[in-house]
Amino acid sequence: MYTQGLDQKGHSTPQSAELEDAAQLEAFMLRVGEEEKIEAKDWMPEAYRRTLVRQISQHAHSEIIGMQPEGNWLTRAPSLKRKAILLAKVQDEAGHGLYLYSAAETLGVSRDQMVADLLSGKAKYSSIFNYPTLTWADIGTVGWLVDGAAIMNQIPLCRCSYGPYARAMVRVCKEESFHQRQGFEIMLELSRGTEDQKAMAQDALNRWWWPALMMFGPGDKDSKHSAQSMAWKIKRFSNDELRQKFIDATVPQAEFLGLRVPDDDLKYNEDTGHYDFGKIDWQEFHDVLAGNGPCNKQRMAKRNKAQDDGAWVREAARAYADKHA
Ligand SMILES: [Fe+2]
Ligand SMILES: [Fe+2]
Repeated sequence: MYTQGLDQKGHSTPQSAELEDAAQLEAFMLRVGEEEKIEAKDWMPEAYRRTLVRQISQHAHSEIIGMQPEGNWLTRAPSLKRKAILLAKVQDEAGHGLYLYSAAETLGVSRDQMVADLLSGKAKYSSIFNYPTLTWADIGTVGWLVDGAAIMNQIPLCRCSYGPYARAMVRVCKEESFHQRQGFEIMLELSRGTEDQKAMAQDALNRWWWPALMMFGPGDKDSKHSAQSMAWKIKRFSNDELRQKFIDATVPQAEFLGLRVPDDDLKYNEDTGHYDFGKIDWQEFHDVLAGNGPCNKQRMAKRNKAQDDGAWVREAARAYADKHA
């Protein structure tokens, strides 16, 4: 998942907006209103383009960094079958990153620039990937909750007004659905296992529940550019709406597993038809985003090392391309 709207605050609309042709803007909004897809070569407001570049590149970075917490368990998966499934899942995430970098490139930003911004720490990625995966149950929980939250967020993006992003999301969502199911299935097996396995599953849920809720980004009142993204039909639901949908869908799944969601205030509200839930610790969210989560430094160091270790591959590919030019 991965579109937390991480730095929506503080970004202003461009000064150049006045200079843009009012007629073009009107035609653009008309097309968006009629659910027509905007394509790479079409006219678009500069702020729309920049919002998409920021959102799609953050999404791509999150897919790539997101390979690390699960990659951590590839060598320790409990069986050959589990290893093969996890390997396929982690490879899918790499693929998601690549589709998304390609989608962002259609907006005129180079992949080299996006990667450089990630490696230098200038670009952000989802806060969730800065938490450690301590036991095998964390792999189940990540699939169940993190990929589950990703689906909740990404299904509406299949209808995003920008064509290349919307089309990339269609395939990504199919794969995320497999990821969520494989995670839930790990949890099901653990929760039907020994007392120790059940305890391991509960412990993982205790640690991941609140960070998973933070994946939807700040509450609506603190996410002031959401309204613009909704008007452009990049976004279809607000952060709080998506978070509520996720909670409503996930709590019955936890009950089915026989696990307790770690929130004393969680209660089904007959009047609203939704679950009421406790307060999210937004200070923790901001601390993690600021680089002070449990694994931020480790994630960035590993990504930078991978880039350095791969230098010879890029060099060889360039030499090969030159030779055939
Ligand atoms: Fe993904
Ligand atoms: Fe996934």
